[in-house]
Amino acid sequence: MTKKIAAFCGSLRKESFNKQVLDTMVQLAPDNFDVSVLSIEEIPLYNADIEAEGVPAPVQSFKDQLKAADGIWIVTPEYSASMPGVLKNVLDWAGSMTVENALDQKPVLIAGASPTQQGTAFAQAHLRQTLAACNAYPMQQPQLYIGGVPNKLSGGKVEDEKTNEFLEKAMNDFDTWMETLSK
Ligand code: FNR
Repeated sequence: MTKKIAAFCGSLRKESFNKQVLDTMVQLAPDNFDVSVLSIEEIPLYNADIEAEGVPAPVQSFKDQLKAADGIWIVTPEYSASMPGVLKNVLDWAGSMTVENALDQKPVLIAGASPTQQGTAFAQAHLRQTLAACNAYPMQQPQLYIGGVPNKLSGGKVEDEKTNEFLEKAMNDFDTWMETLSK
């Protein structure tokens, strides 16, 4: 059965390593995945007053695409031993406790890449904590930490056999995770 995946990256940088990992995942995704990569560039800073007056159009569109998805992928860098502020900001909008929680009971695949070896472990731990607060269901295993990432990229995608095998396995496991949760 075709599964709709909404994917986004926690980096706004044009040449983002994490964006390149996400692009590679799209290319390697199982045939039954229909993946849409969502931009978070237009999402304003969260403000409860603005939300109460009416959710801004780019936020509503983002939330609608999350709600329509069977699963969500988040590929993120680590900043200062946590997730980047831009990512936390979109999760605050998406997982709103007052208007509508677009993350409620959504399966989530988390991945992260860093030039350092241990990079994104703290970011991913904090991301799991935030997703738990939003009642989303991040896949437990495998956890996708891609260290030393600049050496694994070429031509805008991951060109490292082991990493690509790891990504493919994780996406197949995510298919099972979505099936399990839908029962
Ligand atoms: C970083 N970087 C970083 N890396 C890491 O592994 N742990 C960390 O805590 C941090 N902290 C951090 C803070 C800030 C403000 C910046 C700008 C960077 C380095 C980071 O992994 C690197 O810049 C990546 O290239 C960012 O990901 P993208 O944009 O390439 O996807």
